[in-house]
Amino acid sequence: MAIKSHKNGFGFATKSLHWIMALLVLSAFTIGWYMDFLPLGMAKLEWVSRHKSLGVTILTLTILRIVWRLCEPTPQALSPHKLERGAAKLGHLGLYGVMIAMPLSGWMMSSAANFPVSVFGLFTLPNLVGPDKELFETLRTVHWALSWTIVVLVGTHIAAALKHHFIDRDATLRRMLPGSGSDAPSRPSARKQKESSL
Ligand code: HEM
Ligand code: HEM
Repeated sequence: MAIKSHKNGFGFATKSLHWIMALLVLSAFTIGWYMDFLPLGMAKLEWVSRHKSLGVTILTLTILRIVWRLCEPTPQALSPHKLERGAAKLGHLGLYGVMIAMPLSGWMMSSAANFPVSVFGLFTLPNLVGPDKELFETLRTVHWALSWTIVVLVGTHIAAALKHHFIDRDATLRRMLPGSGSDAPSRPSARKQKESSL
């Protein structure tokens, strides 16, 4: 399988990044809610620390993924409907947006609370802002609101992938799966569609 994507399918690098990051986002989300319900103590501090390290890893991988995406061709969307293709683009843009905004708001929140962010105990990130209680509360609300935005975006994203697979019966989901080749059929031309509907 080719490392790079081409206009008909995703390459190994993009597929790997997609599924590894989907797993990481799901883990950061689950840990985020789990630690929220823990009583104050060592266990809570340890989970918060793991959550932050995971979040910083997601931020790093997202930047890498965006740079990589700009360096390779993007596979053609398979939906014949312009509106659906536009909505998918907007949804993907939103997903990239939250994968940047969520960790950044968390990092800023920790800085405002004057809790420097240690990454897996290996190194400590610089504070993005000075200690500020009011800003901390605002960023806490932003982080919380973004966690629900992720639920809506990922939920719609999964529903759309399943719709493509089970209702439209096209290769949208198949061509993102690890085992599939990167040569999924491209979208039929408008002329072919017209012919087949006659
Ligand atoms: C994609 C990455 C991330 C996801 C999906 C995520 C998700 C969540 C969720 C669901 C919560 C519980 C709801 C809430 O209280 O807001 C939470 C809390 C929290 N997150 Fe994140 N987070 C991410 C990245 C980060 C990063 C990078 C940091 C810091 C460096 C961070 C710091 C925190 C803190 C300190 C809390 C507890 C807030 C409180 O005291 O209420 N998060 N996160
Ligand atoms: C079970 C879960 C998931 C499924 C079934 C799934 C499925 C897919 C599929 C089929 C595509 C290709 C869409 C196309 O060709 O137009 C895609 C792209 C994408 N997915 Fe997911 N996905 C899942 C989870 C996630 C999660 C959790 C995230 C991030 C929070 C995510 C972010 C993205 C992004 C940003 C793209 C666009 C890739 C590009 O730049 O073209 N996905 N996903």
